[in-house]
Amino acid sequence: MSKPPAERTEQLRADGSLRHLLTLDGLSRGMVESLLERAAHFSRPFNEPAARSTALRGTTVAIMFAEPSTRTRVSFELAALRLGADVVNIEVQLSSRRKGESVLDTVATLEAMHVDGLVLRDAEADVPDLVAAHVADHVSVFSGGAGSYSHPTQGLLDALTVLQHKGRVEGLRVAIVGDVRHSRVARSAWRAFSLLGAGEIRLLAPTALMPDTHDFAGCTRHDSLATGLTDCDVIMALRIQKERMTEADIPSEREYFAQWGLTIDRLKYARENAIVMHPQPMNRGVEIDSAVADGPQSVIRDQVRHGVAVRMAVLEQALVRQS
Ligand code: CP
Repeated sequence: MSKPPAERTEQLRADGSLRHLLTLDGLSRGMVESLLERAAHFSRPFNEPAARSTALRGTTVAIMFAEPSTRTRVSFELAALRLGADVVNIEVQLSSRRKGESVLDTVATLEAMHVDGLVLRDAEADVPDLVAAHVADHVSVFSGGAGSYSHPTQGLLDALTVLQHKGRVEGLRVAIVGDVRHSRVARSAWRAFSLLGAGEIRLLAPTALMPDTHDFAGCTRHDSLATGLTDCDVIMALRIQKERMTEADIPSEREYFAQWGLTIDRLKYARENAIVMHPQPMNRGVEIDSAVADGPQSVIRDQVRHGVAVRMAVLEQALVRQS
């Protein structure tokens, strides 16, 4: 289902520093830990003012999303602004791409306006890699989600959320529940949790939403919540991605909730102190019950809060000139 780009664009500079962030695949544990450490530095409790710096003063970041977004788009924008960058948002549906302009011509136009960083979301998995392969040397490209393949900053913010609530990822038992097959969030979370030494990563899904067997190496697969959630430390519920599946993939939403919905009763299979995550947007009453989403074990709002901190760390790491 997930079609990774035919040609992977190099994400690191010759000196090993991060230039682009297109995927977590191939990044070292040290690189991920250093990004998370910096993100933890930028993370603030809800009741404290947001972290700010002037590290990106004089830098321009353009955000161009061809799919809907609330969290990723807004948090990249806030992250860039809080680092002192200038930010422009390109509404793809209102841009000249609607008149047939290619994504590379649009990017060349932005480069001519002295854009230094480009944040892209696209339904096609290879668009961020394609753009990164063609931009000028001083420009960095950041994926804000590409097809069902990759959502690297989501993987990082999920890892940061687990670290802040559990103190470690090492050795933890993680359950990823629902529409794993179509989920770029699941693929990036799997990469991040594997890299950080999770003890076991379980995929829980009905057959139609389970990824192909060659995908998600090392994960165990479960066809019921009762077996799959038992003794888990972390539960990540996924959105049913209606836009990426055919009608035939699942029964009605009511039937799906009856079998796969995360409810208070089903949460009891997991460890008593298990945390519940969801990338949002949520289909309440389909993949998750409101009593769980808003309950004491939910860390969903922390995931959103950490999204800004992680994106500050990524933008800073790639865009601050080391001269
Ligand atoms: N989690 C996530 O990617 O949310 P948005 O689609 O709102 O950006």
